[in-house]
Amino acid sequence: MKTVRFGLIGCGLMGREFASAVARWCHLTNIDAHPELVAICDRFDRPPSDLELWFTNNFPSITQVTSDYKALLANPAVDAVYIAVPHNLHQEFYCAAIEAGKHLMGEKPFGIDKAANQAILAAVKRHPELLVRCSSEFPFFPPVQRMCDMIERKAFGRIIEVNCGFVHSSDLDPNKPINWKRQIEFNGEYGCMGDLGMHPCHVPFRAEWWPRNVRAILSKIISERPDGKGGMAACETWDNATLFCEVESAANGGAFPLTIKTQRIAPGEKNTWYVEILGTSASARFTTRNPRRLELLEYRGGEQTWQQIDMGQETAFKTITGGIFEFGFSDAILQMWAGFIYELTSGKRLKRFAGCVTPEETALSHELFTAALESHRRSQVVRVTAGT
Ligand SMILES: NC(=O)c1ccc[n+]([C@@H]2O[C@H](COP(=O)([O-])OP(=O)(O)OC[C@H]3O[C@@H](n4cnc5c(N)ncnc54)[C@H](O)[C@@H]3O)[C@@H](O)[C@H]2O)c1
Repeated sequence: MKTVRFGLIGCGLMGREFASAVARWCHLTNIDAHPELVAICDRFDRPPSDLELWFTNNFPSITQVTSDYKALLANPAVDAVYIAVPHNLHQEFYCAAIEAGKHLMGEKPFGIDKAANQAILAAVKRHPELLVRCSSEFPFFPPVQRMCDMIERKAFGRIIEVNCGFVHSSDLDPNKPINWKRQIEFNGEYGCMGDLGMHPCHVPFRAEWWPRNVRAILSKIISERPDGKGGMAACETWDNATLFCEVESAANGGAFPLTIKTQRIAPGEKNTWYVEILGTSASARFTTRNPRRLELLEYRGGEQTWQQIDMGQETAFKTITGGIFEFGFSDAILQMWAGFIYELTSGKRLKRFAGCVTPEETALSHELFTAALESHRRSQVVRVTAGT
């Protein structure tokens, strides 16, 4: 069993999900490498916070605790890093990690804007010996893996339309205090697109369904929020975005529409990632609202019938969980990390759609979101150049 020694920079929401996946690595049955958490970095205080103690009490393998990310990157006992920090720090931290010779799993949007993303891509190009990937876990839900297998087999026939989105209602409550995701300085001008957009782009981009143009409609719905100090603070970033894209695909026999919705204020939605593919031979859809259900319509003439197929643990990376049991968010995180470790240690992906987002795919998302900002500003369709 190979060991990949990890440093974690950013011990917040996603940092803890990673650590939890490391802790239950034994859940996976068919992978001959595992991550070990040896170093952590956050803005730690003295005496140690509950957060720091959560890590050090649960992970005796941790030998370095620091508030200085450069000290972690200088640690020769660290082979790879997961960096889960706000968007304004992506460029500096990711580039430094790559230049320090560490394999990197970064978080979306992989740079606060297109210029930051290009700087990260340039560092990636200088270090082809490193595996650099971006986190995105939703394609690992078993019904989505089944849909991706159908893409591989060209089972959809000619694609008619694809609809993807990531919508939730975290910001529906106007009394929720402001956080960094509402501030351009930390979250970037993309707003909800940078925050949520890589998730719905993952499957279409991996399928090489690249948008050649976009018409975007962006909304700011709640203009100010409590600042936590008794006053109000302006919300600067886009709450919701709807992108109408045209995908050029010679392999498909013609262009088709792709819609991508990213919304932080979608009434009734908790944390809904969805994908719908409509084709001449088959159509399929999935939503995390019903995480075990694949809806499938196979058309061979005659009646059109939507089947509802309940799936259990039909995962890309095999686990100890019984085949009929439900799959959830933390299972998807574990699968994604298995995808990263597998690719790092074997030099290849298990399957085309059982791998993490590549730096090139993040670059395409930046082209799209930058074009979407312009489209909204000018109320026009804007060409998307990357990937064409
Ligand atoms: N893949 C997903 O499903 C998913 C979900 C949520 C967030 N994210 C992404 O993860 C990243 C982090 O988001 P989060 O929700 O975990 O945020 P968070 O605020 O919960 O955690 C960020 C952590 O970074 C730390 N930090 C900030 N500045 C630092 C510095 N200079 N040095 C060291 N640590 C520092 C903070 O103290 C905090 O603990 C973002 O890029 C976000 O887009 C991904």
